Amino acid sequence: TRTSVVTGSASGIGATTARLLAERGERVIGIDLRNADVEADLSVPEGRADAAARAIELAGGTIDAVIACAGISAPIPKTISVNYFGVTELLTALLPALAASDAPRAAVVSSMASLQPNSAEMVEAALAGDEAGALRIAAELAEQGPEAGYLVYPSSKRALARWVRRESITPAWAGAGIPLNAVAPGTVITPMTADLLKTPEGAAMVDAAVPMPLNYHQPPESVANLLIWLTSVENSHLAGQVVYDDGGADATLRGDDI
Ligand code: NAI
Repeated sequence: TRTSVVTGSASGIGATTARLLAERGERVIGIDLRNADVEADLSVPEGRADAAARAIELAGGTIDAVIACAGISAPIPKTISVNYFGVTELLTALLPALAASDAPRAAVVSSMASLQPNSAEMVEAALAGDEAGALRIAAELAEQGPEAGYLVYPSSKRALARWVRRESITPAWAGAGIPLNAVAPGTVITPMTADLLKTPEGAAMVDAAVPMPLNYHQPPESVANLLIWLTSVENSHLAGQVVYDDGGADATLRGDDI
């Protein structure tokens, strides 16, 4: 049996991924703020280091797959810390345990929102590993009001997608035989989107930004099953990709622009 570490395991896409893996008889070590094997706060460096150390200990030193789902969508500075640094620092800290596996794999959850308007400055600060700088830019945006604040989430997901592309081909990942990829969902029916989708006005707003001609809003299983395949033994060569699993939103919005 494989051992997978799943972040955000207490809710939504992460909880569904953990359940589907467990149903297959695989071992799951969940990380979340609460209701998880490892309870830790991925918004801060100590929480990330603590989560990695405890997950490695529970796994007995070898981790076969890491699936990073934990994230928040609020227009606040913390969003860049959880969605970017909470993923990249955790994955980096788990690398030694992944390298001990015969078939190590990793996948993260970006978003089709990474295609939406974002702050290039914040994306660059994140990719440079400058969390304080990225937080400062996010705070400035949040202070300018809701419209500017809403750039924080797409910026966090754009930075994460770029990190995956850059890192996936390095000696640490590709060189160590570890496929690293991202998935980019459309609008997934989870607690994160529940309030927005409750009213026709909220749903119309979401649908204007994220058009989904194929099968409309998606269940968390549609993303979880892809994450599970990307981190399975079967995936030997798919690396550095952002897989848009979004009901056709990316094809609608970007068209030929790829
Ligand atoms: P959710 O809100 O149901 O689950 C997110 C989980 O992350 C929660 O259990 C939460 O406690 C955990 N988490 C948040 N902050 C944390 C922290 N500081 N430390 C540890 N755990 C923390 O959300 P959902 O919808 O399952 O989202 C999962 C991922 O998918 C997120 O990264 C989100 O940005 C992304 N996504 C979601 C979409 C949607 O429409 N729901 C669309 C595209 C991407």
